[in-house]
Amino acid sequence: MLSRVVLALSFAAATLATSLPADLPPFNSSLFKDLNVTRGFVYHYYASPADAGKPTLVFLHGFPSTSYDWRHQVSFFQDKGYGLIVPDMLGYGGTAKPLDPEAYAPSLISRDIVDILDAEGLQQSVLIGHDWGAKIASRLANYFPQYFNSYAFLAVGYTTPNSFALPFSEQNNASRAVLGYENFGYWDFFSSDGADQIILDNLDSFFDIAFPKDTVFTIKDFAPLGTIGDFIRNGRRITPGDFVTPEERAIQMELLRQGGFAAPLNWYKILTTSIERDDDQGIPSENAVLKKPVFFGAALRDYVALAATFIAAALQNSNDTLTIHQYDSGHWVQLEVKDEVNSDLLQWIEGLKLDV
Ligand SMILES: *[C@@H]1O[C@H](CO)[C@@H](O)[C@H](O)[C@H]1NC(C)=O
Ligand SMILES: *[C@@H]1O[C@H](CO)[C@@H](O)[C@H](O)[C@H]1NC(C)=O
Ligand SMILES: *[C@@H]1O[C@H](CO)[C@@H](O)[C@H](O)[C@H]1NC(C)=O
Ligand SMILES: *[C@@H]1O[C@H](CO)[C@@H](O)[C@H](O)[C@H]1NC(C)=O
Repeated sequence: MLSRVVLALSFAAATLATSLPADLPPFNSSLFKDLNVTRGFVYHYYASPADAGKPTLVFLHGFPSTSYDWRHQVSFFQDKGYGLIVPDMLGYGGTAKPLDPEAYAPSLISRDIVDILDAEGLQQSVLIGHDWGAKIASRLANYFPQYFNSYAFLAVGYTTPNSFALPFSEQNNASRAVLGYENFGYWDFFSSDGADQIILDNLDSFFDIAFPKDTVFTIKDFAPLGTIGDFIRNGRRITPGDFVTPEERAIQMELLRQGGFAAPLNWYKILTTSIERDDDQGIPSENAVLKKPVFFGAALRDYVALAATFIAAALQNSNDTLTIHQYDSGHWVQLEVKDEVNSDLLQWIEGLKLDV
């Protein structure tokens, strides 16, 4: 079964270059679009129109991912008539893959997403982000709140304007003092020269630790400074989570293999340099507190993006309703506890005041 999928996929890869293979349900291949945004990068995104009276949901994925991360949400909400906008984020899938880290400044990526919303004529979307997609959702809330009805953050919560104010080395020392390990130490390897090729050469090892069954491995072998590079270089294998089937894993791996990691790792290079810190200086301070409904889906077994810190930030920075759900899950809540996440999001969305 798996070998058939892999064969089908290499055929798709040969014919489709770097876009989502044409036949990946629940995505309807005729609903993908490409837009050359204002700054001249082409974005590839899924656009499923809303039924009358239903809002559009905008889903932003993180690292290491593509729009395919949202397959369970696309299936669930598309069938209920919700509009969907699901881009491949900058560096991934069918979207442009610039190699200059400066291109990944969150203010610029936020503008790209707004260009897509403008092209689609969308004014009052429900914005949903996971991982670095939650960071961009945070910046969209800061820079362009007029485009959104509400915000949902998954695993990574609302990321405040001062989140990256400490230089990387100080951040590591601060987390080590509190947690006993540097929970963002892996940024060092991800932003180092040659990391992209090391990951590509050991993709199974990388996927095992990125999607682990037992997230305690991330405390010893992923997060602390100097650990993830050794893990991958040595080709270590651990049991992956069964929330990604072997067939889905083959698809995810192929999508990332096609695009390579040089572009995606720029999401980290902006953090270990001053690019992100400098960019965030431009956030309007009056928009630091969110004045729209917020949903936070916390991942209680995520030892990198720590639920407690994001719950505290959400409580301090919400000036409308705040809905928090805590999941017995690792980082990938939209996959690992998909049914709970879908039904909690649906209940929250049904309770929103929507002007559609
Ligand atoms: C896919 O979208 C097209 C265009 O809207 C539509 O005609 C077609 O019925 C859809 N296919 C499925 C399987 O829903
Ligand atoms: C996108 O637009 C830029 C100019 O803004 C142009 O240089 C580039 O060729 C366009 N890309 C594509 C694929 O059309
Ligand atoms: C971080 O901690 C290390 C080890 O204690 C120390 O050598 C280094 O100077 C510290 N760096 C910063 C920026 O505080
Ligand atoms: C929250 O909103 C109220 C008015 O609804 C306002 O008085 C208060 O200053 C706001 N708080 C913050 C932190 O923005």
